[in-house]
Amino acid sequence: MYLFKTIKNLQRYLLACKNRNESIGFVPTMGALHEGHISLLAFAQQHCTLTVCSIFVNPTQFNEKEDFDKYPRTTEADIALLEQNGCKVLFLPDVEEIYPHPDNPAPVFDFGYLDKPMEGAHRPGHFNGVAQVVTRLLQIVQPHHLFMGQKDYQQYKIIDKMLQITQSPVVLHMCPTLREPSGLAMSSRNIRLSPKEREQAAHIYRALLLVQQSMEVLPPKQARMAALNYLEQHIQNAQPEYLEIVNAHTLERVQHWKDAAQTVVCTAVRVGNVRLIDNLLLPPQTT
Ligand code: PAF
Repeated sequence: MYLFKTIKNLQRYLLACKNRNESIGFVPTMGALHEGHISLLAFAQQHCTLTVCSIFVNPTQFNEKEDFDKYPRTTEADIALLEQNGCKVLFLPDVEEIYPHPDNPAPVFDFGYLDKPMEGAHRPGHFNGVAQVVTRLLQIVQPHHLFMGQKDYQQYKIIDKMLQITQSPVVLHMCPTLREPSGLAMSSRNIRLSPKEREQAAHIYRALLLVQQSMEVLPPKQARMAALNYLEQHIQNAQPEYLEIVNAHTLERVQHWKDAAQTVVCTAVRVGNVRLIDNLLLPPQTT
């Protein structure tokens, strides 16, 4: 695996690849890699002849300094995992490489309603930070394909919109969430859970499944309440920040299942000190 820390060296290498007509896939990450990231890499490897991964813990997308400081950094293990899984190119820049002029304002995108609810409401500035770094990384890597996980569904929608706004030719792919046997969505933050919290966190997915199971008999508003009650009953000191059933395209709340061709239930829950998110795309309904 080639490891590049500077834009100059990465771009020199990628130019030679593009001149050979390689199709470039890109998997941006913040490290602390797990099987979920490796599945993104595997998707990219199936679609493209060359895959670039990046590891960069982006300071501009953390709205809590403590979350940034505590974000797991496991670079040595990440490098070994990428190598074992056949990654050819890793971009591992410093902050100065990505943001050489920290005073320059980040580009401000108008995401319409997409960055208003859910994560947008609870993490002010988060999506602008995500869009800022992904724009920057795309400028650097200039891939043909971009691979992102469904676990961050709202982030996926934001990046999709950002690509439309910038008229980018990059093809965006959403890859399914990988889960532990308990159902807990794989996340870099899971390593911060105690064994007890990890057991409890599995109830997050069960609450999402409860929404899916109740679709035939309950309207969205009541299905949402049932899932919130389930979380409160099953996770000690559970602090669900939100659990919303929304139109998967616009992210607006739905009143009736038939209001949207596709709905998605999204949640963020604090288990102990760890904030976890998850979502489930729901099957279409006619009522
Ligand atoms: O999903 C993530 O890990 C990050 O938000 C991303 C897309 C790598 C941008 O920093």
